[in-house]
Amino acid sequence: MARIICIANQKGGVGKTTTSVNLAASLAKQGKRTLLIDLDPQGNASSGLGVKRHEFAEKNIYHVLIGQHTIDEVRTTTPVSNLDLIVANNDLIGAEIELVDAPRREFRLKDAIARVSNQYQFVIIDCPPSLGLLTVNALSAAHTFLVPLQCEYYALEGLSQLLNTAGLIKKRLNPDLRIEGIVLTMFDARNNLSHQVVQEIQTHFGEKVFKSIIPRNVRLSEAPSHGKSIMDYDEKSIGARRYLELADELIQRVQGGANA
Ligand SMILES: Nc1ncnc2c1ncn2[C@@H]1O[C@H](COP(=O)(O)OP(=O)(O)O)[C@@H](O)[C@H]1O
Ligand SMILES: [Mg+2]
Repeated sequence: MARIICIANQKGGVGKTTTSVNLAASLAKQGKRTLLIDLDPQGNASSGLGVKRHEFAEKNIYHVLIGQHTIDEVRTTTPVSNLDLIVANNDLIGAEIELVDAPRREFRLKDAIARVSNQYQFVIIDCPPSLGLLTVNALSAAHTFLVPLQCEYYALEGLSQLLNTAGLIKKRLNPDLRIEGIVLTMFDARNNLSHQVVQEIQTHFGEKVFKSIIPRNVRLSEAPSHGKSIMDYDEKSIGARRYLELADELIQRVQGGANA
């Protein structure tokens, strides 16, 4: 059975998509069969892997959520071996509204993943920057959620809201939901504030914070425009090394039964 991990933070621009794509690619590079689900109408995870979204206009995550297609019918392979992808596009904006009266509206994604989860070791879900029905679907489907936090002054702002939402979902929809951990992103070693934020978050969340801290690295921001994960764009970059380390930590946690 796959470990289903949703990458969530209702703030935009904190590194959700960068983490989703590069963590998924790192896991795949380590030989883990991985499925990346793009759940953001912006579809950045899809284009960031070089997948032509227009080719999936009739076969993307929207069609899975409204019950028109199964995951089996819409998933695609990617340039990264061991990594499959489900594309997202603008249609997804409509799903939030269309699903309001649908049966099991919070479990559409969970039900869909259940049919393929034995084919993967990891399922990574890239969430949109909101706590709406899409993110609720992701949190209901997931075993754990992983929170990217940008190393800046307002990093913790909004985190309590996310944790509250996760708490409600645990109570009402997904009793086994746990936090996977916090990934610190866009760390700038020359900036005192970055160090302070890291310290504060480590003090606050202890073991929950992944040891691999993702630095601000221009190669990470360039890779998506080439349609490549950081490992395929520049495997020697510090960004690539840190995401591989993050994947190793995650694999160890899962194998060691940590968080169980
Ligand atoms: N570690 C990093 N170093 C440099 N740029 C980054 C890094 N992480 C993300 N970015 C850039 O910051 C922007 C926002 O990141 P993204 O992953 O799309 O955030 P989110 O999905 O949370 O909105 C993107 O342009 C991305 O390329
Ligand atoms: Mg994103």
